[in-house]
Amino acid sequence: MRSLAVDVIKQAFSQTPGEKLHKKLYLAVCSCILEGSLRPAARMPPTRDLANELAVSRNTVLRVYEQLQAEGYISTRTSSGTFVTESVLDNLNTQVTRTAQTAQPFPPASLSKRCLDLLENASASPAQWGDFIPGVPDVNSFPHRTFKKIYDRIARRPNPEFLTYDADGGLEVLKSALSDYLRTARGVKCSTDQILITEGIHQALDLVTRTLCNPGDHAWIEEPGYWGIKNILRMNAVNITACDVDDQGLVPAPSSAVRPTLMFVTPSHQYPLGSVMSLPRRQLLLSMAREYQSWIVEDDYDSEFRFSGQPIPSLQGLEDDSPVIYIGTFSKTLYPALRLGYVVLPKPLAAPLKKVHNELYRSGHQIIQAALAEFIREGYYAAHIRKMRQLYNKRRTVLVELIKQHLGEEFLGYFNSNAGLHLIIQLPADADDIGISKRANAEGILVRPLSRYYFNSQKSKGLLVGFANIKDCDMEPSFERLAGIIKQNL
Ligand SMILES: Cc1ncc(COP(=O)(O)O)c(C=O)c1O
Repeated sequence: MRSLAVDVIKQAFSQTPGEKLHKKLYLAVCSCILEGSLRPAARMPPTRDLANELAVSRNTVLRVYEQLQAEGYISTRTSSGTFVTESVLDNLNTQVTRTAQTAQPFPPASLSKRCLDLLENASASPAQWGDFIPGVPDVNSFPHRTFKKIYDRIARRPNPEFLTYDADGGLEVLKSALSDYLRTARGVKCSTDQILITEGIHQALDLVTRTLCNPGDHAWIEEPGYWGIKNILRMNAVNITACDVDDQGLVPAPSSAVRPTLMFVTPSHQYPLGSVMSLPRRQLLLSMAREYQSWIVEDDYDSEFRFSGQPIPSLQGLEDDSPVIYIGTFSKTLYPALRLGYVVLPKPLAAPLKKVHNELYRSGHQIIQAALAEFIREGYYAAHIRKMRQLYNKRRTVLVELIKQHLGEEFLGYFNSNAGLHLIIQLPADADDIGISKRANAEGILVRPLSRYYFNSQKSKGLLVGFANIKDCDMEPSFERLAGIIKQNL
């Protein structure tokens, strides 16, 4: 007599997706047992009958029964057949009861005070690709084919060390290529063993803060400044002193103020306003750092993109053995998803910070690092930067003209130096830059409000407008819409 179990399994089998018959049948029988359509102690159909009904080979059914038996779903009683195991339902029952008991809403998650503080100030944008997004380079121009060729060659027969954990703060060939590049292009004074490869500046800032600050210590940041630093300091319970920025860069807090353990600055191109730190200000900061026994953290995030005059050399290289931790990234020169940056550590910090980095983050990606080292050594990196510099210069010029034409010259930010990947549209003090940004974002125009970059309550109003990732020929229609939104909301 044909058993009901055959029909149940047959139906489940027909509804189970997949190509491999034994896998399909296995999943179908499991679901029948777990959902209860095959009850505990129910007799399983004889393998020959089931095979005929499903039009599969008997071997397939035998293989599946064997697997189900090994996993305890079914068991065989000598000379009476195969049955669904009774304890399956016991387990299922306890699971069901347990689920029913705990199916109440979770109590509110108990998060640390530091975490709540960070969440209240979370600033990373949920949208990372769209017109005028600041800080994102033209990722489509990256020479993917060239890079892939190098990468594929290395990946075809990788050195075994490329496939295990990195334990030395990055691959030697990349650190060596970088130290040569930084000495010549950025005037950084360093040897290869001072370089640590990180997953971008963000991770480097976290490492430096965790290793050099105790909870309750103080740090200086620029006002306005990069939001990422503030959240890292919050998470590490470090007190923030937000120092004003003028046309010469960060204005140091009065010397009577508490000693900062760290001073975070962007001397080559202040983020986000764009001023360049003057030589006297650099010298003042270095002398204050020596007096306070503080470290200056130089965030050199986009200095490769200066469109007129000479490149601004690093603050780190101004003196021998300066009290400066120099940090850079490939996010702006190549693309952010690469997640590769570097730190040039002062000699006394090199060994301990590399060790902490290794203990905390367990790095890897050596094949990409090896490919990048070759990309730099073969001159592709410098050529790409040169090409992008020309492209961005052109795009910036178009954007400046659009601002003048559609809004007026008075809307150009005070310190907009001829550099970087974004510029500032200055808005009147009573403008709602957050509201304007929200409206623009809703139309896919990803400008960001300047007031969000301030720590204190006194804020300038404006918009950060990226020009690197939008073709000059596509700028006008998008900018017209943005200008319309701005005018409607002033
Ligand atoms: C001033 C500044 N520093 C650091 C970063 C982050 O760099 P990374 O992508 O290497 O973490 C950014 C990103 O926009 C930035 O604007």
